Amino acid sequence: DWTMAAFRAQAIERIRAQVGSERVICGLSGGVDSAVAALLLHEAIGPQLTCIFVDTGLLRAGEADEVVALFRGHYNIPLIHSDAGDLFLGKLAGVSDPEVKRKTIGGLFIDVFEAEAKKIGGADFLAQGTLYPDVIESVSFTGGPSVTIKSHHNVGGLPARMKMKLVEPLRELFKDEVRALGRELGMPDSMVGRHPFPGPGLAIRCPGEVTPEKLELLRKADRIYLDEIRQAGLYNEIWQAFAVILPVRTVGVMGDGRTYDYALALRAVTSTDGMTADSYPFTHEFLSRTATRIINEVRGINRVAYDVTSKPPGTIEWE
Ligand code: XMP
Repeated sequence: DWTMAAFRAQAIERIRAQVGSERVICGLSGGVDSAVAALLLHEAIGPQLTCIFVDTGLLRAGEADEVVALFRGHYNIPLIHSDAGDLFLGKLAGVSDPEVKRKTIGGLFIDVFEAEAKKIGGADFLAQGTLYPDVIESVSFTGGPSVTIKSHHNVGGLPARMKMKLVEPLRELFKDEVRALGRELGMPDSMVGRHPFPGPGLAIRCPGEVTPEKLELLRKADRIYLDEIRQAGLYNEIWQAFAVILPVRTVGVMGDGRTYDYALALRAVTSTDGMTADSYPFTHEFLSRTATRIINEVRGINRVAYDVTSKPPGTIEWE
């Protein structure tokens, strides 16, 4: 793709001009955006780059494994794996407002990046895989009055006290362009085709308070859901699919007994850029098979609903 080849060369020049001979740390999230940003930076500045993967305790089952293996094993790019689950879950305890959650998480990311940067002798720049839609939606709603829809942790959520300067080489791109750039950089298809995963992670898929108990149930249910989607050959038709654990318990019956357990919502959408989206039209058979498996296999969830809201008026994530 000639456009992406040209973009690649230009972006590399711009990165070199911006950072000179300084050190850069790049936060990897497990998603394709930060992985592409990191590869581009590696090409531009080689050993001046250190990647940091923060385990926030808010990842889904297996979310990080592929990216960590790719960077450590295949590309041989230095990668710090920071285990910060207790820190994040501790600070989120008792917090249920969506924007407070997002800002808390954004602030913690910066704390961790700064602490890790210090350990390697300091860094002047923090690189992120921010895309154009992240910028727009954190700043204002297109066409309307200036209202923040959500503070994306990698844009609006950055605290002013952060000393590092930002490097955001993908800021002008849409998701399909980032994927094309990933291919241009030789990234494997399995990585390029991954569904997006938000920086605040499972915290925004637990409306209300985030607890270790809910996260555990959510991970189990989400894994079954994605497993069914892959088995049905639908993964690549869907922009993003995930489960949301609701702050509601409902009454059910199992065997001879009464249950009083959490309700779960399933979400799957089609989209080209994440700015608008339609609910994915699964068959009833697929949905009932998946619901049955989740309720049978995840003790603690006894009801499953499918979210048919499009964006707008809904958003893709629930918070
Ligand atoms: P919404 O929920 O706003 O999501 O319709 C649009 C797309 O953005 C992802 N998303 C985020 N990505 N940091 C990210 O890196 C964030 O804070 C964030 N919030 C939402 C969301 O998963 C969807 O793909």
